[in-house]
Amino acid sequence: MVVAGQGRSAVCYECIRVLNQLMEEDPPPPPAEPETKSPLVPRDINANLDAYVVAQEKAKKILSVAVYNHYKRIWNDANPTGVELEKANILLIGPTGCGKTLLAETLAHTLDVPFAVCDATSLTESGYVGEDVENILLRLIQAADWDVSLAENGIIYIDELDKIARKEGVNRSITRDVSGEGVQQELLKIIEGCVANVPPQGGRKHPHQEFLQIDTRNILFICGGAFDGLEEIVSRRLASGVSRLGFLAGGRIQEETQNSILSQMVPQDLLEFGFIPEMVGRLPVTVALEPLDRNALMRVLTEPKNAIIKQYQQLFSIDGVELEFTQDSLEAAADSAVGHPTGARCLRHIIECALLDVMYELPSLKDVVRCVVDRDVIEGNNTPTLVTKSGESFNLSLDRELKSA
Ligand SMILES: Nc1ncnc2c1ncn2[C@@H]1O[C@H](COP(=O)(O)OP(=O)(O)OP(=O)(O)O)[C@@H](O)[C@H]1O
Ligand SMILES: [Mg+2]
Repeated sequence: MVVAGQGRSAVCYECIRVLNQLMEEDPPPPPAEPETKSPLVPRDINANLDAYVVAQEKAKKILSVAVYNHYKRIWNDANPTGVELEKANILLIGPTGCGKTLLAETLAHTLDVPFAVCDATSLTESGYVGEDVENILLRLIQAADWDVSLAENGIIYIDELDKIARKEGVNRSITRDVSGEGVQQELLKIIEGCVANVPPQGGRKHPHQEFLQIDTRNILFICGGAFDGLEEIVSRRLASGVSRLGFLAGGRIQEETQNSILSQMVPQDLLEFGFIPEMVGRLPVTVALEPLDRNALMRVLTEPKNAIIKQYQQLFSIDGVELEFTQDSLEAAADSAVGHPTGARCLRHIIECALLDVMYELPSLKDVVRCVVDRDVIEGNNTPTLVTKSGESFNLSLDRELKSA
């Protein structure tokens, strides 16, 4: 017997029977399970941070554990055992240019939960000119591709938290402190856990807008700031405390480095800095980041995956030039950056200044293949040495005229 199909095709009955038999004997493989990524353990997270951030070992460890515990809290929610895991929001305190924002940004690349970085300086109390606090949540929802339930388990980094300290000298009976205490009050609700109404277009809330509702109970908050002036508050308290115990306070405090002073910070100091007690209570983990020392600054130049020197070498290689920094040039750059008020931030400026003239001239100088930077160049006493294909070397004069060496 033959079964006719459409058009001219036909299959005999015996073939259909054999095919059926074969299919029964060898069933098709079950559809592959969707691949589940196993979450990163603290060591993995730390290793990722290590690839981009130099030093700050303690902060890296605390962040790695906090993030891992955050994952655990999410699993625990799925398998309720009756024990509720509370979140432990984190406060990173450290001088300008020591890697706070860099840590947050690197974490953002590392994690597979939604992560948003935002800045506290732009926030004001609702009803006043500036951004509403809910816009922070909008960033997170955007990071979660508008999946609100995913965003509800996300992590938010609030940078420059110190800028919303209560303003000194504000007479609160006359002027409202709308970018300081007012913002703290509103941030409090979100950090603590509430169902917030977020305007999907961002900006200010207005009555005829539809809101996205997001529960912030499981969102982990990491805050950071330079907290200028906090060391003085801590050392004042230490000095008065130590002298009360009968030691020669002054001498001892003088010897302490800025970092070890900050690491002795207690919640009371943050209150004095201008934070309301409820806010301090909701940031139970505080980490003092170290100002980078000479050695760390040298490592910042060369070690991270996108270290400053590597970036310039890449720029030069596009022009077909090999850029070389001698060891003493790195030392010189670190020497002038150490103790600088902008920390590692000034390293880029130092290198940029040293290379400016060469970057200006190089594309017009066809046969240069190498450019060598030494201590003199960094200190501004010379321009980099340029080497041509034929092995000749010369320097541009400081006023950008070509000069044979
Ligand atoms: N620990 C570090 N490791 C590697 N690079 C660093 C480190 N600290 C700072 N840098 C370099 O300095 C730049 C500025 O650092 P970052 O933005 O993290 O400073 P910050 O601590 O947030 O300062 P601020 O308080 O001014 O915001 C970074 O882009 C990076 O190039
Ligand atoms: Mg920063």
